[in-house]
Amino acid sequence: MNPSEPRAPRLLGISGSLRRGSLNTAVLATVQAAIAERARLELFPLATIPLYDGDLDGDEPPAPVRALKTAIAECDGIVVCSPEYNYGIPGVLKNAIDWASRPGFQSPLVGKPVLIMTASLAFTGGARAQAQIREAFLATLARVLVRPEVVIASAHKKIADGRLTDEATLRFALQAVDDLLGEIGAGRR
Ligand code: FNR
Repeated sequence: MNPSEPRAPRLLGISGSLRRGSLNTAVLATVQAAIAERARLELFPLATIPLYDGDLDGDEPPAPVRALKTAIAECDGIVVCSPEYNYGIPGVLKNAIDWASRPGFQSPLVGKPVLIMTASLAFTGGARAQAQIREAFLATLARVLVRPEVVIASAHKKIADGRLTDEATLRFALQAVDDLLGEIGAGRR
């Protein structure tokens, strides 16, 4: 690599679902492959993040939480793709945001560009969860991307064998990732 060339942006992918066959993780995996030439998207599974406990919080939180916070600190931007559970944000995702948001207003999330996508079986595509996820990130002072929402409705009909196969949906999701990369570039200038 030419050292005068800027390094490829590093993105952190966070799925709001722990499920092996998760449609949301499949969206992130598809994006990861599609943008590999221009950006590195690393997926961070939330399975090992414990429930938030203020008694364990501080300079030395549990190791999985430290790993999450380091990954956030070292990335240029975050791509979240999450289901909606009972009209809202899945507990595992909210819990991870809560850990990552500490210390309040001084956490690695401050100023971090974040793209939020949701995918669900319903025709509403997780829109209600998306609003809650945005609120939670805004509370952390993250830089949530302002653009038309990526809401993937009837996701089971658009995803096969762990890949987002619906071309129009993938195109729309990739436009959003381009907007995120643009936001990261603007922040670097
Ligand atoms: C759901 N699902 C769901 N979908 C939706 O659009 N709105 C909702 O309120 C809910 N509520 C809900 C609650 C719980 C507890 C579960 C387990 C599921 C369905 C959801 O969209 C579907 O299970 C997705 O496939 C979950 O995403 P992953 O795991 O495939 O990424």
